[in-house]
Amino acid sequence: MSDPLQSFRLDGKVAIITGASSGIGEQTAKLFSSVGATVVAAARRADRLEKLSAETTNVVACACDVTSDADCENLVQTTLEQFGRIDVLVNNAGISDPIAAIDEDLEEFRRVIQVDLISCFYLAQLSAKIMKEQDSGGSIINVASIHGFVGSAPNNQPGYSAAKGGLVNLTRELALEWARFGIRVNALAPGYVATELTDEMIAGDSGRKWIERNTPLRRPAAVHELNGAMLLLASDAGSYITGETIAVDGGWLAR
Ligand SMILES: NC(=O)c1ccc[n+]([C@@H]2O[C@H](COP(=O)([O-])OP(=O)(O)OC[C@H]3O[C@@H](n4cnc5c(N)ncnc54)[C@H](OP(=O)(O)O)[C@@H]3O)[C@@H](O)[C@H]2O)c1
Repeated sequence: MSDPLQSFRLDGKVAIITGASSGIGEQTAKLFSSVGATVVAAARRADRLEKLSAETTNVVACACDVTSDADCENLVQTTLEQFGRIDVLVNNAGISDPIAAIDEDLEEFRRVIQVDLISCFYLAQLSAKIMKEQDSGGSIINVASIHGFVGSAPNNQPGYSAAKGGLVNLTRELALEWARFGIRVNALAPGYVATELTDEMIAGDSGRKWIERNTPLRRPAAVHELNGAMLLLASDAGSYITGETIAVDGGWLAR
């Protein structure tokens, strides 16, 4: 038997990762690079991306605000022009709206849906058109959340929960529509992970204790604990997985 770990490698593959300037996206860029991929790292903070690119083999920066259709188009086009193909897209950029639904401004709700859901659809569509033409399949990974399955209150985030729920079912829909092109579409549903998104909550006593109380493993995740599921979905090791959302949540959704 040949080495089964070989199928987790991404040699020769080209991956776009959004939200790569920090947290899960930055970690994923380093992860993919370490197993042979070329990575186009996208986000708004270009300085952070340049630093990542300078420190990591085969990672290039592409400044991109995913709420801009033109930026999304430029990201896909630039990747194609520079590297000639797109094999993996990780829709990871995300923001939250920590406010009670009763008080939320409609514009803020719209903004979160735009970043966390609509941009994922548009980038998936743009990438799938390329992948379809390449005729060698592809993998799209949407970073959703446990709050795509269960509500978030008392850690209120109404737009976030709505967007992530939408993203989980969009994942199923795109998987069904694009299976005929060999494009797999899956999602990850992390529980609480220590990143810039959660640092205030985790630093605060009540937030951290709430996470510990509600997570069966009694702690938030470290970013590297998503590596296994991310690589499984991105690589040929996951070649028969599509339409799935894998929870990496310390047991949160098992309740
Ligand atoms: N941390 C958690 O507990 C947790 C749990 C479940 C799911 N998630 C999901 O994981 C993903 C990554 O979050 P994280 O925890 O790693 O948080 P993070 O460190 O705050 O990273 C968020 C990333 O999204 C990017 N981003 C935000 N708005 C953007 C925009 N308009 N255009 C382009 N990029 C944008 C940010 O980059 P710039 O500011 O430079 O643009 C940043 O790189 C998100 O989708 C989040 O919902 C996180």
